[in-house]
Amino acid sequence: MKIDVISIFPEYLAALELSLIGKARTSGLLDLTVHNLRDWTTDKHRTVDDTPAGGGAGMVMRADVWGAALDDVLGAAADADADEGANGDVEAGATEEGPVLLIPTPTGRVFDQRMAEELAGEDHLVFACGRYEGIDARVAEKFSERVRVVEFSIGDYVLNGGEVAALVAIEAIGRLSPGVVGNPESLIEESHGAAGLLEYPVYTRPTSWRGADIPDVLLSGDHARITRWRRRKALARTAKRRPDMLIDRAEPLTMEDKLAL
Ligand code: ADE
Repeated sequence: MKIDVISIFPEYLAALELSLIGKARTSGLLDLTVHNLRDWTTDKHRTVDDTPAGGGAGMVMRADVWGAALDDVLGAAADADADEGANGDVEAGATEEGPVLLIPTPTGRVFDQRMAEELAGEDHLVFACGRYEGIDARVAEKFSERVRVVEFSIGDYVLNGGEVAALVAIEAIGRLSPGVVGNPESLIEESHGAAGLLEYPVYTRPTSWRGADIPDVLLSGDHARITRWRRRKALARTAKRRPDMLIDRAEPLTMEDKLAL
C-alpha cells in the first residue's frame, strides 16, 4: 500500500517511523512519504493561508497551494481515472480504482473500524492535513471530480490540525494491511471487530498481584468455558460502557447473550 501525507508540519508524522508501522515501512510493506505543503508555494514567505472570504476569525488554507500539491501527489493515476469517469463508466469522483484523497476535518464523517477495514483494501491513500480554520472548500469539491474524496473526523472534538487525525487513521488502516501485524489472529477478537463488542478484559503473569488474582476460569485450561466467560465479559463491558453498540447490530445477540446481560 502506498500512503502520502501532505502537511505544513511534516515532523508531526515522525511517529510513523516507530513500532509496527515503522517496521512495515522498512520492510517495504508500506510505502509512506510525508511531504511539506510549503514546497508547493511560490512566494518568498512560502504562504499557505489567507483570511476567510466573508470575514471572521482565523485563516483558511489556500486552494491554489493545495491544488498544486495534490496535482503532483495524486499524479497521473488520478487523471487516468478521471478520463474513465468522463466515458460514463463510473460516477465522477467515485472511481473504483486509483488514489483516495482523505481530508481530516472535524466536519467530516466519523472514522471507525469499518472505514479502516474498507480503506485497508485500497492501493493508494493521500492525506491532506489542514491547519487553521481548514482548507478552502473548493479543494475537496474540485478533486472529487477526479478521485474519491473522504472528509473524515476522528471524534467530536476540535484539534489544531489534521496531522494527529491522519496518524490515527494511518495506524488503524496500516495495521489491517496484510503482514503489518505479525500474528493476524490478534486482529480477530479485538474491540470493534466482527463481534461488534468491546473486547473482554485480559490478564497475564503474575497470577496474583496486590491481592488481585487472575480469574480461575482463565487458568482452568477449559477452552469452551473460557470462550463463554470472555463472551459474557465482552457483553457486560459493552452494555456498561457502550450501550449504543448493542442496538442495531449486524449480528444479533443470541438468547444466551441476552441471559448473560
Ligand atoms: N482536525 C481538527 N479536528 C479534527 C478532528 N476531530 N478530526 C479530524 N480532523 C480534525
